[in-house]
Amino acid sequence: MKYAPNTLLVALFWLRAAEALDNGIGLKPHMGWSSWNVAQCDAASARYALDTADRFISLGLKDLGYEYINIDDCWTTRSRDGSGKLVPDPSKWPDGIKAVADKIHDMGLKFGLYGCAGQQTCAGFPGSDGNKHAESDVSQLVEWGVDFWKYDNCYTPCLDNPPPQTCQRPAGNTQEWYAPMRDAILGAQDTRKIHFNLCNWGRDNVWEWGYDYGHSWRMSVDNWGDWESVERIGSAAAGISEYSGPGGFNDLDMLYLGSPKLNANQGRLHFGLWAIAKSPLVLGLDLATISDETLAVIRNKGIIAINQDELGKAATTFTPPGKPGPESGKIHPYWAGPLSDGVVIGLCAGISAGTYAVDFKDVPGLGEGSYAWEEMYTGDKGTGTGVSFDIDLHDMRVIKVTTATQAKREPAAL
Ligand code: GAL
Repeated sequence: MKYAPNTLLVALFWLRAAEALDNGIGLKPHMGWSSWNVAQCDAASARYALDTADRFISLGLKDLGYEYINIDDCWTTRSRDGSGKLVPDPSKWPDGIKAVADKIHDMGLKFGLYGCAGQQTCAGFPGSDGNKHAESDVSQLVEWGVDFWKYDNCYTPCLDNPPPQTCQRPAGNTQEWYAPMRDAILGAQDTRKIHFNLCNWGRDNVWEWGYDYGHSWRMSVDNWGDWESVERIGSAAAGISEYSGPGGFNDLDMLYLGSPKLNANQGRLHFGLWAIAKSPLVLGLDLATISDETLAVIRNKGIIAINQDELGKAATTFTPPGKPGPESGKIHPYWAGPLSDGVVIGLCAGISAGTYAVDFKDVPGLGEGSYAWEEMYTGDKGTGTGVSFDIDLHDMRVIKVTTATQAKREPAAL
């Protein structure tokens, strides 16, 4: 609804954009890499950041749009310095942060860091502590040339005292402790435009207000790199698709392709579903040991183009006539979403292997008539009134449908 081509809605969109964290970035889901799933604290180092940047170039990932090298938790020392400044751990950042950010910028890439609204980060490093340090922390980010700031929700105000790492009885609303950091980032935007990624694990229905606070927001607790996580997060994304759009996207969490807990079929579905749901595509794997099979998935140009389509609208589920509707917590077989030049259909064998067929007339955004289509994993192409694929358990097909010249649309209502 947000971006429907209707004058009133377009006007509403611009009004809304004016109050958002609107610093001209985040118009497409961001693409990159994050250290956390690779080796948690051990990967929060200059060595990992620079090595990954080199591999973005040598593996052709930069050319495909992967851009951000993001360092997650554990990059600082255990306490702030005497002036309240964050101190990069010298054993992990021997030349400091700026030297690394500069090198990464010279390679045409961007560099991100991680912080936390609470007293400590989730791994026990200094947080911005009720935002006492928001402005000072942002001034350090600006000085170092940081492009991305992930902001976590551990040790935040809680009815339990002292606040535990993960509070189950929050003393307030996440918005309260994310606003000062949003304002500090906005305040600095003339010198540096920083992507603000809210990581409150989907609390307080972040998708309803995230657009006014950040450029992307985590809508769930972590992806643990197993099929259950893909089911849990992927199925939840269907119900909140309308909240994603240029300037603010549901973040389904880092991609866990290559995890030993996911087989090849599950990896394809994971990547394909995150892509059509317009999630940021952030690799959470060690590029030094990536397999050819995983590389082929993350380098799929057609799927990346669908994710990066300028319309920025997320696909959601639909149910063709006679088929069962979505089951809670399971990956529904039928997904569709609009693209600037067509429609994407996702067919997911998340519940069972089988033949999955759709008539285009039953797909939201399509109608009667013949269309050209292309499937992005197999490379199959065709023209007709529908598609049908035999899909193995937990695998996916991602089909881009464009109007064929001979397509006969339903006559528009007068
Ligand atoms: C979690 C967050 C993860 C990772 C981790 C670091 O709260 O969801 O993505 O950042 O903290 O400790």
